[in-house]
Amino acid sequence: MLYGADTASVYHDFYRERKGKDYAAEAAHLAALVRERKAGASSLLDVACGSGSHLEHFVHEFDHVEGLELSADMIAVAGPLLPGVALHQGDMRDFSLGRRFDALTCMYSSIGYMADEDALRRTIARFTEHLEPGGVLLVEPWWTPDEFLDRHVAGDVLTVGERTIARVSHTVRHGDKTRMEVHWTVADAVDGPRHVAESHQMSLFTSAQYEGAFEAAGCTVERLRPSWSGPGLLVGVRA
Ligand SMILES: C[S@@+](CC[C@H](N)C(=O)[O-])C[C@H]1O[C@@H](n2cnc3c(N)ncnc32)[C@H](O)[C@@H]1O
Repeated sequence: MLYGADTASVYHDFYRERKGKDYAAEAAHLAALVRERKAGASSLLDVACGSGSHLEHFVHEFDHVEGLELSADMIAVAGPLLPGVALHQGDMRDFSLGRRFDALTCMYSSIGYMADEDALRRTIARFTEHLEPGGVLLVEPWWTPDEFLDRHVAGDVLTVGERTIARVSHTVRHGDKTRMEVHWTVADAVDGPRHVAESHQMSLFTSAQYEGAFEAAGCTVERLRPSWSGPGLLVGVRA
């Protein structure tokens, strides 16, 4: 499911304020991981960049950054926050920007939207094609089948500016997929409360499937466990 006009700005406000989520700290850590592997890295592409909350910090870390995102509504939220940054509307499975970057990120489990291992491999190969030799690939995966907590319920309520946002989700396993039902209730003083529901299907790839996709694309791969991510972080370097 795509983030649409109803949910893109709600997504943006919510995750920037959600307890435990810190885009600035994540971006600083990711930039440091890039530089440890490619000193002098100066360009970065953020794939599935959403509303641009990592890019807003990457612009201070790299000379040149770009974003790629499927949802036009997410890009519409990101655009005004990122003057001068190229934001491409495109699909991570088959994009081609005609240039290479020193680093490529794909964060917040967006890779989990790949429907099967074939799509995962094609997408990691696309990512690698967009990296310079020695370029660094950073992918925050979705849960593995071993680590996923079936029937997990999450809930948060917070106030951002003029509006109060409640998010409740329930995630259920169906074989090697998960389905997350998310209900948002959003209220402000003028319009009062409204409710939007969405459903996200994501794949439970194993560590071996992720690592195999990196290796098949010609990248090394290591799995890190930064404190800020439950599923961890896959880091590769293009040969
Ligand atoms: C959980 S959000 C993460 C957004 C952003 N990276 C962040 O950290 O806030 C997942 C994003 O992946 C995007 N997405 C899903 N499938 C995609 C695809 N095939 N190609 C590009 N973007 C995609 C969605 O539109 C959404 O913005």
